[in-house]
Amino acid sequence: MSAPIIRSLSELRTLVTGWKSSGETVGVVPTMGALHQGHLSLVQAAKEGCDRVIITIFINPKQFNNPEDYENYPRTENDDARKLAPFGVDAVYVPDGPTMYPEGFATNVSVGGLTDLLCGAHRPGHFDGVATVVSKLFLQSQANRAYFGEKDFQQLQVVTRLARDLDIPIEVVGCPTIREEDGLAMSSRNLLLSDRARTWAPELNAAMEEMADELVMGGNIADLHAKAVARIERAGFTEVEYLDLRACDTLEELTAPTRPARLLAAAWLAGVRLIDNIAVG
Ligand code: PAJ
Repeated sequence: MSAPIIRSLSELRTLVTGWKSSGETVGVVPTMGALHQGHLSLVQAAKEGCDRVIITIFINPKQFNNPEDYENYPRTENDDARKLAPFGVDAVYVPDGPTMYPEGFATNVSVGGLTDLLCGAHRPGHFDGVATVVSKLFLQSQANRAYFGEKDFQQLQVVTRLARDLDIPIEVVGCPTIREEDGLAMSSRNLLLSDRARTWAPELNAAMEEMADELVMGGNIADLHAKAVARIERAGFTEVEYLDLRACDTLEELTAPTRPARLLAAAWLAGVRLIDNIAVG
């Protein structure tokens, strides 16, 4: 049976209040739709961890720093509902623009520090848009737990920080990245790749895996960085925005994996911006 689609906040509140008053725990999985196995793994984790599960689908205009990117973002609501059907989720919350940002909306949630680097440095305003909408979704859903993918590792750190800083009583749960068989991290943006570009895309992850292995063996970061960027560009990518070794907790730059570390990258392939990250060691 398909999950009920809820478009109004009052309806969502009524449902959640009922569940919570009977002592049930509520999990929320925020998404922008165009659902794939990566999203569905979060739904599965939420089902396993909570009595009630809400999926939210809202393509948040505030987090797109490029209007064309917003226009081109895949919109597949019927397919999404079909993919969610087997999971038996309790609600699919699909608010419209004015529900999220009514006229006169003037508040901006901005997480300092963490958002100045990596994707934040290349996509001005992006993380403010994410932090603002995620704060709203946390408060609207009143969920006990929220599920996010490590695929967007910096986003996971940002939403964890904002929940803590704003005393929002929600536990942020990070879930592993789901990949295609060839290593490409699943992403709604992969749908925008041409068939040809799709065959080149896995080189990003392959180059990162190679670099991570060699870093663990004590390789020099500058040499390994140059080698990986050359490999990615040879594969057909037009620009590597960043390919950085960072501390897992603070995201500060490292020159060697001397503490829990992550390799994070963003690169452009045929007009599509792909991101990926992997643990090092
Ligand atoms: P979206 O890109 O739709 O992703 C929704 C959630 O799915 C995020 O937590 C993301 O990290 C996770 N996800 C995406 N691809 C994944 C993969 N291959 N494996 C595991 N998890 C994956 O991220 C957003 O939407 C938005 O910024 C949002 C948080 C909804 C705020 O608008």
